Amino acid sequence: MTEPVPPTSRPGGVLVVDFGAQYAQLIARRVREADCYSEIVPHTMSAEDMLARQPAAIILSGGPSSVYADGAPALEEAVVTAGVPVLGICYGFQVMARALGGSVERTGRREYGQTTARVRVDGSTLFDGQPPEQVVWMSHGDAVLEAPEGCTVTADTPGAPVAAFEDDERRLYGVQWHPEVLHSAHGQQVLVNFLTRGAGIRPSWTSENVAEELVDQIRAQVGEDRVICGLSGGVDSSVAAALVNRAVGDQLTCVFVDHGLLRQGEAEQVEQDFVEATGVDLVVVDARERFLSALAGVSDPEEKRKIIGREFIRVFEQAARDIVHAHEGTGQDGDGQHDHPVRWLVQGTLYPDVVESGGGTGTANIKSHHNVGGLPEDLQFELIEPLRTLFKDEVRQVGLELGVPEAIVWRQPFPGPGLGIRIVGEVTAERLDILRRADAIAREELTAARLDRDIWQCPVVLLADVRSVGVQGDGRTYGHPVVLRPVSSEDAMTADWTRVPYDVLARISSRITNEVEDVNRVVLDITSKPPGTIEWE
Ligand code: XMP
Repeated sequence: MTEPVPPTSRPGGVLVVDFGAQYAQLIARRVREADCYSEIVPHTMSAEDMLARQPAAIILSGGPSSVYADGAPALEEAVVTAGVPVLGICYGFQVMARALGGSVERTGRREYGQTTARVRVDGSTLFDGQPPEQVVWMSHGDAVLEAPEGCTVTADTPGAPVAAFEDDERRLYGVQWHPEVLHSAHGQQVLVNFLTRGAGIRPSWTSENVAEELVDQIRAQVGEDRVICGLSGGVDSSVAAALVNRAVGDQLTCVFVDHGLLRQGEAEQVEQDFVEATGVDLVVVDARERFLSALAGVSDPEEKRKIIGREFIRVFEQAARDIVHAHEGTGQDGDGQHDHPVRWLVQGTLYPDVVESGGGTGTANIKSHHNVGGLPEDLQFELIEPLRTLFKDEVRQVGLELGVPEAIVWRQPFPGPGLGIRIVGEVTAERLDILRRADAIAREELTAARLDRDIWQCPVVLLADVRSVGVQGDGRTYGHPVVLRPVSSEDAMTADWTRVPYDVLARISSRITNEVEDVNRVVLDITSKPPGTIEWE
């Protein structure tokens, strides 16, 4: 398989220099929320390379280190003296202060968490239109004691006499706190003020423009070639397919593998609603029997994952071969060696995947989660990754822009192996049916209670190997428990159990035990992650 191309940097974007903490992605997202394009680059990138990207502004992120620590990430002076507007944040504020000749000291007055900043509003670019006292979120041990020459101090906090400075002439700004976190009351406004007033950027990164630009890029990349795309019913593959479809129409064929491990209504959502809304050419492969027989007798979750991944790839490859066969003789490659007419495979890789696998400076590893089990090395397609500059929330906005059905755009994450890893025990057609019905009730009630966007996802798990005693009508029953696992999370790396209101839980429980035969007990999982994972298997 050929490597995907790195994202092309767009002149005029905002470069977010990552100093090593987890803040860079958040800053980049907040900049995008202000409708300005942003890219993350590692602090190890040379000033020359940064400036070669012709950024409209540079933001120096926070970092875990003290500027005095051994091996603390440094800043080349050229970054702050090249005439490009710069905003330093936290650690970035301190390295910037030092590079400009200010003084940074260890004061012994550490500030972690919430504190109050007094800001000078009058004549300030960053704080214009904001209250003179604001709650800000801090995390620092060192502090800037003296602002660099030419910079005006515009804020202080109990632990930081110089908590912000500004120099409109050189367009250099900095804040000691984290404007990107929501606990900083006016943080987004500080960023917007920097971008629009300080750097003079005219915001144009809107979903309408983004969709248009991506469509143009795809058209240029694909030319006359044919493209295939594996649809899962999830947000990423659906939006990627909708974009490619908008760009090259019937040169695209989508493949949807129905492995029988889907939830109620999902296959129909893709087969009917998605096709109707976007007009894509869709091939549906009914592989339910095949997956069930491959899973027969298997209870071990990792074994299930392997089998599901393997079968998925086989079915997908066969479908791809069928498409190639159907279009034989229409190839455009003309090099005699790779003369197959389907040249491109669409992948729903997102910007965070790109950043995490090399900061956009190298090529992305395809996460195996994207394809259930990863695609084989020797797959003879080139990858087209229309979403590789986008964050998840932008993917959703672009999806809405393209008319992808809301039920798909706002879909909660659902694992590739589907209900296969939500049955603790062997997967059988009967058990899938039980789980599907219980899951549909839980989803229906959570949606009715308008909780969908508060909940990251809510696995419903069938404990198929556990029997529980119940009483219904006059008789004792001997059924199975299901577990409700509602979680709140930002990225699935950590999660907390969602405090779903009791009356909603009561309705779910009573409906499931009444409407789903074989389930006589509903239990609630109240474990955070860590220590528990989100899924049970
Ligand atoms: P855990 O259970 O590890 O889940 O806390 C974190 C996120 O990953 C999803 N998940 C999977 N997704 N294939 C997938 O495509 C898998 O095998 C898989 N296992 C877990 C899970 O739903 C959650 O969003």
